[in-house]
Amino acid sequence: MAGLTGKVALVTGASGGIGQAIALALAAAGVSVAIGYGANDAAAHRLAGHITASGGRGAALSADLGDPAEVARLVEEAEEAFGQVDLLISNAGAGQRQPLEAISVADFDGTIAVNLRAPFLLAQRLLPEMARRQFGRVLFLSSVAAFTGGIVGPHYAAAKAGLHGLTHSLAARFADDGITVNAIAPALITDTGMLPGEPDELRQRVPIGRLGRPAEVADLALAVLRNPYLTSQVISLDGGLYPR
Ligand SMILES: NC(=O)c1ccc[n+]([C@@H]2O[C@H](COP(=O)([O-])OP(=O)(O)OC[C@H]3O[C@@H](n4cnc5c(N)ncnc54)[C@H](OP(=O)(O)O)[C@@H]3O)[C@@H](O)[C@H]2O)c1
Repeated sequence: MAGLTGKVALVTGASGGIGQAIALALAAAGVSVAIGYGANDAAAHRLAGHITASGGRGAALSADLGDPAEVARLVEEAEEAFGQVDLLISNAGAGQRQPLEAISVADFDGTIAVNLRAPFLLAQRLLPEMARRQFGRVLFLSSVAAFTGGIVGPHYAAAKAGLHGLTHSLAARFADDGITVNAIAPALITDTGMLPGEPDELRQRVPIGRLGRPAEVADLALAVLRNPYLTSQVISLDGGLYPR
């Protein structure tokens, strides 16, 4: 099994619940972490400070992933900070809960831009260098919404489903370059900006009987990133919500 110690990861959305847990797990495994975030300076810098104080390497880098120029700048800054990027964890996501009739063209385009276009642009920019070094990992954070439609809305579900096509296309293209490309499709993860609490109404929907935790997503993420023979997979982590 390939070790991750000494590698460099770019984790987007690392100021949020799931991204922070993945960043911490990577740092604990000896990975240097470029902490991508949007607006939450305090959370990103707190995380970087925590990683550094624990003997690791972390740098907080802000970028609005809805803007392609900022996506490119984020990669440049991550490479400046750590020399290269070996692991891309494209985790940042946003979804405004909206009924079909209320979704404007701007809402639809904005949701696609952050949840699908930015992951594509990040992977497009980083994969050639990974291939040159004959090692790389790409992991997309999808959602159960890609399978079930979910509760946010059709724009979000469509963006997440798009990540699955991206996963299969990129995995096939780079399979013989030492690169794996996978996605995790979680559902109902608490202690996140998307789902801060644990409402009874949601808990009752989950066959396992509770919401998931960011550390449980991070645990699976590390297993996926460590495994060189696992590629082109979308792995559900949803307490049994789908399929059922
Ligand atoms: N929580 C769940 O139940 C659940 C279920 C299924 C899938 N997911 C997926 O899991 C991933 C992580 O979400 P989370 O649950 O950890 O939610 P979260 O705590 O709200 O984190 C979202 C992260 O995305 C970043 N972000 C959002 N829009 C951005 C933009 N335009 N530019 C740059 N960064 C942006 C946020 O940065 P700032 O706050 O710094 O702006 C934050 O770090 C997302 O892709 C989400 O779709 C979550």
